[in-house]
Amino acid sequence: MTSLTLCCSRRAIAANAYVNGNWRFIQTLQRRQQLQQQQQCGRHCAAATATAAATTTAPKTNANIGAFTISTRNMSSCSSQQLVAVDESRRFMIDCFMAVKVPEENARAQADLLVAADYRGHFSHGMNRLEMYINDLAINSTNGAAEPQVLKETPATAWVDGCNGLGAVVGNYCMDLAIKKAKTVGVGWVCAKGSNHYGMAGWYAMRAMKQGLVGMSMTNTSPLMAPTGAKEAALGTNPLSLGAPASNSDQFLLDMATTAVAVGKIEIQNRKGAPLPDGWAQDPNGNVTNDAKLGFATGCLMPLGGSELTSGYKGYGLGAMVDILSGVMAGAKYSTQVRKWTHAGANSAADLGQVFIAVDPNCFAPEFEERMTDFNSRLRNTTPTDPKKPVLLAGDKEKNNMKAVDAAGGIQYLENQLKTCAALAEKLKIKPLSFN
Ligand SMILES: NC(=O)c1ccc[n+]([C@@H]2O[C@H](COP(=O)([O-])OP(=O)(O)OC[C@H]3O[C@@H](n4cnc5c(N)ncnc54)[C@H](O)[C@@H]3O)[C@@H](O)[C@H]2O)c1
Repeated sequence: MTSLTLCCSRRAIAANAYVNGNWRFIQTLQRRQQLQQQQQCGRHCAAATATAAATTTAPKTNANIGAFTISTRNMSSCSSQQLVAVDESRRFMIDCFMAVKVPEENARAQADLLVAADYRGHFSHGMNRLEMYINDLAINSTNGAAEPQVLKETPATAWVDGCNGLGAVVGNYCMDLAIKKAKTVGVGWVCAKGSNHYGMAGWYAMRAMKQGLVGMSMTNTSPLMAPTGAKEAALGTNPLSLGAPASNSDQFLLDMATTAVAVGKIEIQNRKGAPLPDGWAQDPNGNVTNDAKLGFATGCLMPLGGSELTSGYKGYGLGAMVDILSGVMAGAKYSTQVRKWTHAGANSAADLGQVFIAVDPNCFAPEFEERMTDFNSRLRNTTPTDPKKPVLLAGDKEKNNMKAVDAAGGIQYLENQLKTCAALAEKLKIKPLSFN
């Protein structure tokens, strides 16, 4: 069994390796490291172990890398931050990907996605995920050089095999194909199997919006959401996005997990040593928990809406919808078939299903963008309950975050994230991340 250790030690968890086909070795080693660390942490350290998927198959070593160091994530309650320039964050991530033999173009595509998430304030899907991608690439459970292939095509649709490539590589390819079709026949609907974690669902909707199209994207993910009334997870956080362009560079961009929150937000709460709000996660008995460590260790998030009393079954239904349109429709893994994924990487290909939809609004009533601007202002101009907090539209928070990053001159990363980066730089023998 692989494990995640959630602990406040100042020392990075000792790295170790998948050596000579001995995958079990890592697991034993990780367990030993966790024990040692719990002892070292003393009373400041509340260690929790999240038991993840049973490992049945040993992964292949990456011929390019040989024995690679796999670390488990060391989560601190320390929440001090450092400022990192956006370009430096991108540079660091590109270097990391290229160090595990990802071709430069693919490395840039994946890094652009991750840095955009941090820039937009979705830290759960930015550099926070880097180590997981690197570990997957290093043990060959993701193919960084893969090129997606079209399996079946009509003027408006395509079924694509992502060939186990990086999520952004598969996602960009599929959305670009959907855009091309929408520009030709009004709509493009592309389903991908054989994909990997593709980060922010909104990234792909934005790609369509840049072309004046309405964009949508959804992906299934590793099981983490308990169906309403269940003690165990059977759906992922399964995000969906809808982007609609408006005039004067305005837009509506809904980009959301169908769980109450993305799992990364539980990780972030835990890293800050902060409690979880009600309705985010369950304990092993299926009750709501406010304990971030327990919530993360249990691995059972609540659907959007929370419990049955607060209509959580609607979020459960939306999560199922995403899986039907992505996993089931694409012939990819779905529901509990999807592998578990931890910071140590995973031992098999993810085979995620994803869907990318582009629609040309000009196929319908004229002046869509003008009406969108009016629509947006009608929502934003409603009377706020708190006069100091204007009513927002989907995408506004992220825009505000980007403005704040620009004003600050960089992205504020938590100290613990920077420690993970320092450890990665050492392992991969690349230039460390610079911060102010
Ligand atoms: N690839 C994956 O496996 C995966 C899984 C889950 C989530 N994600 C991504 O994680 C990111 C975070 O997801 P999340 O659900 O935690 O997002 P969130 O809850 O922060 O925001 C969801 C949406 O609500 C909007 N919003 C936020 N506050 C608002 C307000 N006050 N008024 C109006 N609109 C508001 C945001 O603009 C956003 O569109 C997303 O980019 C999502 O795609 C990815």
